[in-house]
Amino acid sequence: MKTLFKTAFILTAIALIHSCAPKAPANKAGIDPQAFNKVIDGKQVSLVTLTNKNGLEMTVTNYGAKVVSLMVPDKNGEMADIVLGFNNIDDYQKFKPYFGAAIGRYGNRIANGEFTLNGEVYHLAKNDGNNHLHGGIKGFNAVVWDMKKVDDHTVKFTYVSKDGEEGYPGELTVHMTYQLTDDNEFKINYEATTDKPTVLNLTHHSYFNLHGEGTETINDLVLYINADNFTPTDSGLIPTGEIIPVAGTPMDFTTPTEIGQRIDADYEPLILGHGYDHNYVLNQEEPKTMVLAATVYDPASGRYMEVHTDEPAIQFYGGNFLDGTVVGKSGIAYPYRSALCLETQHYPDSPNKPNFPSTVLNPGETYTHTCIYKFDVK
Ligand code: BGC
Repeated sequence: MKTLFKTAFILTAIALIHSCAPKAPANKAGIDPQAFNKVIDGKQVSLVTLTNKNGLEMTVTNYGAKVVSLMVPDKNGEMADIVLGFNNIDDYQKFKPYFGAAIGRYGNRIANGEFTLNGEVYHLAKNDGNNHLHGGIKGFNAVVWDMKKVDDHTVKFTYVSKDGEEGYPGELTVHMTYQLTDDNEFKINYEATTDKPTVLNLTHHSYFNLHGEGTETINDLVLYINADNFTPTDSGLIPTGEIIPVAGTPMDFTTPTEIGQRIDADYEPLILGHGYDHNYVLNQEEPKTMVLAATVYDPASGRYMEVHTDEPAIQFYGGNFLDGTVVGKSGIAYPYRSALCLETQHYPDSPNKPNFPSTVLNPGETYTHTCIYKFDVK
């Protein structure tokens, strides 16, 4: 009896000590994986953490294949979470600024939500005025992907989009790999196949702020874009079809320039875009070769990011539609222009612009796309 009491006492004491001991945080960003534990559309949603040997860390969820946090060091080794986002799945379902999301089937806009392919007219969901944006009402940002963590660096996503989903033809199978490499790269590899001719333009929509998420502005960051030309738009942000030089205009980032330096210039594309929200045509000698597309530098923290891709273009979106109403993961409302997206892609509205590189994918072909965000300090 005595031994029984003693054992019970010891077990209770152990249980007590265990419950009082502070729990090791699941990740450096302080994102609670439990807050992502939810069944959506009959599928389990969760959060996984990727790390590399230098202490960089990224959390991702399979709801929209979203990057939830990305911790990178500054020049003194101080870590900060440099992407906008939420700390729970309910907020991701409620707000739609596409924070950290996979975008598909079509990144950016398709005019009037329609296009003609092989003589047939396809009608898409109109979710941006009269236009179609980022794949429609329930784009790839709002579906639950199959997710498999392969190792500490790597997570694989798969999504099968049904024939007719959001108006697009063909059953489309998409595979994506996110990797946090020991070279401090966040690397995305896309692959897709279809069973009917279709159009496709996948991209990634992390909102970066190299000062750390929740800080005031990105207009003091220094941006370089390896593009001599861009595609101007109308007031609905639909390309006019022209491809024009950036030289001599406030669109020119071929030499590193502070983002805010010319943002209020009296220049029509900037006025129509409400700031920077433009597709830059990358200087690429051969199609499908990797180029340095852009760099971003924060002189204050020393954080430096490079974007590399084999896609023909990059959308530079300067957070013009952030309006200080959406409260992010650290309890701070995200201010106007407090993050930027650099989305490697084909040009917006290509299905209606025969002079733009084709976004058609046919059965038997494989769509591929690589995008690398590489981090360093200077
Ligand atoms: C587009 C913006 C759009 C934003 C939505 C960007 O990729 O270029 O026009 O408002 O996504 O978050």
